[in-house]
Amino acid sequence: MTRPVKIAPSLLAADFARLGEEVAAIDAAGADWLHLDIMDGHFVPNISYGPAVVKALRGRTRMPFDVHLMISPVDAFLPAFAEAGADRISLHAEAGPHLHRSLQSIRALGKSPGVVLNPATPAAVVAPVLDMVELILVMTVNPGFGGQSFLHSQLPKIAELRRMIEASGRDIALEVDGGVTAATAPLCIGAGADVLVAGTAVFGTPDYAAAIAGLRGGAG
Ligand code: DX5
Ligand code: ZN
Repeated sequence: MTRPVKIAPSLLAADFARLGEEVAAIDAAGADWLHLDIMDGHFVPNISYGPAVVKALRGRTRMPFDVHLMISPVDAFLPAFAEAGADRISLHAEAGPHLHRSLQSIRALGKSPGVVLNPATPAAVVAPVLDMVELILVMTVNPGFGGQSFLHSQLPKIAELRRMIEASGRDIALEVDGGVTAATAPLCIGAGADVLVAGTAVFGTPDYAAAIAGLRGGAG
């Protein structure tokens, strides 16, 4: 069985002094989605960039914008990211007490809702909201920084979520984020992932097209 695999380079590892050019380059290199990591220095121990940067980049590409919110509280910021040009907005199950309400808000804004699970969060957390999401993102590092090592302990969770998605009969993307390389990508794909986020493994290399092709390679 081969499921088409999408590659979503994470802008976090790009050259921040040349963001527009980096986005154009990654588009030309064959990326499917652009992954945008939003960090608040509170939910995660790092600060990245906000909706103004997302908006500034929107005109540079037609790739879907896959916005990964690592902020808490999150609800008040959803309209700003929707207006900035996000296509998909994903938030952490751990970010607040009202995951269901936040997902409803994303839907009401006309965007595609996703839920993210930290390494210590079980797959079962998404079961009550499976009917509301179009994407489930499994963190294979603790969020906050690029360049960390892939947590192999998350592979059974990816497989469990793939089974849950198949059982639901719904069209839900299963994305993996953190430490994805040409070596770990086949493990993710083998466990059932169909979208791979990669920062360092793409932007940290001289040939973006080769890096993206290498990540996709595991799909056969
Ligand atoms: C981590 C971010 C990731 C990060 C991945 O909190 O969510 O998207 O940029 O970076 P790499 O691919 O270098 O692990
Ligand atoms: Zn991310």
